[in-house]
Order: sequence, then structure tokens, then C-alpha cells
Amino acid sequence: MKLVKTLAAGAILSVIAASASAYDADWKRGRVYYRSVCTSCHAVAPIGSINPSTKTKAEWAAYIKADKHAKGKDTVKQYVSKAYRASIKSGNKAAEKFADTPDQELLDDVAAFLNKGAKDGDAPASCS
Ligand code: HEC
Repeated sequence: MKLVKTLAAGAILSVIAASASAYDADWKRGRVYYRSVCTSCHAVAPIGSINPSTKTKAEWAAYIKADKHAKGKDTVKQYVSKAYRASIKSGNKAAEKFADTPDQELLDDVAAFLNKGAKDGDAPASCS
């Protein structure tokens, strides 16, 4: 009986651990997405390209968390959404390639790339 209880508790714990563990972000996919989708718009918008190395890791983390894009006119999340990818995929290879990726995974990937490419990150990066 004791063994059964122990096993059951173990099973429950492992389920909790699995659901609590964050998605393992793929910064390489984030880089592709950032350069192909985010930068392709910034480059033609009056703002111009935004290099990840212009902000620190903490600044990027706060930026993603605040989710206020373009001085608060819209959100960062909308640009990683499936709906946005669907709207541009005919002219954007990355949007087409990642058409079915869950929004949150793509946001985590972009955040991981920005963290790595930040001013004080492992590999300060430009946007192209
Ligand atoms: C459809 C065009 C477009 C897309 C796509 C886009 N941006 Fe932007 N972004 C802008 C414009 C326009 C501004 C400048 C707004 C201003 O200065 O008034 C901007 C500004 C920014 C800024 C400067 C700070 C701010 O918010 O004003 C950051 C950082 C940024 N974008 C990140 C991103 C990231 C990350 C993505 C991709 C997930 C993205 N953007 C996708 C158009 C875009």
C-alpha cells in the first residue's frame, strides 16, 4: 500500500514537473523570425532596422514583458501570432515556414534570440 502511494505521488509530481517546465526556446528559430519578419518591416518603416545589441538583456526582457510595440500603438505579440503570419506568408518565407508554430513558442524563440544578441548577451547581434 505504501509503495502504491509512493508511486502515485511520484507520478503526480512528474506530471506537475512536466507542465511547469518552460518551453525550451530555440534562439536560432527566433533569429530567423526576427530577421525575416520583424526587421523586414522595420527596414521599410521610418524607424529603420533595430539591432538586438542596442538593448541589454534586462531591457529586452522588460520590453517583451510589457508587450507595448511601436510606442504602445500595438503589441509585440501580435507580430508573432498565427494570424499575422497567415496575413504575410505569401510574401514572407519565414512566416510561411513557421505558419503552424504556437504563438508563445515563437515569442519565446524571439525573446531568446534578443537575449543572446543583447548588448550584454552571449553574442551581441545585428539584425541582418
Ligand atoms: C508591420 C511592421 C512591423 C513589424 C512586423 C514589427 N515591427 Fe517593430 N516597429 C514597427 C514600427 C513602425 C516601429 C516604430 C514605431 C515608432 O517609433 O513610432 C517599431 C518599433 C519597434 C521597436 C522600438 C521600440 C518601440 O516599440 O517603439 C522594437 C524593439 C520593435 N519594434 C520590435 C519588434 C519585434 C520584436 C518584432 C517582431 C516580433 C517587430 N517589432 C515587428 C513596425 C513593425
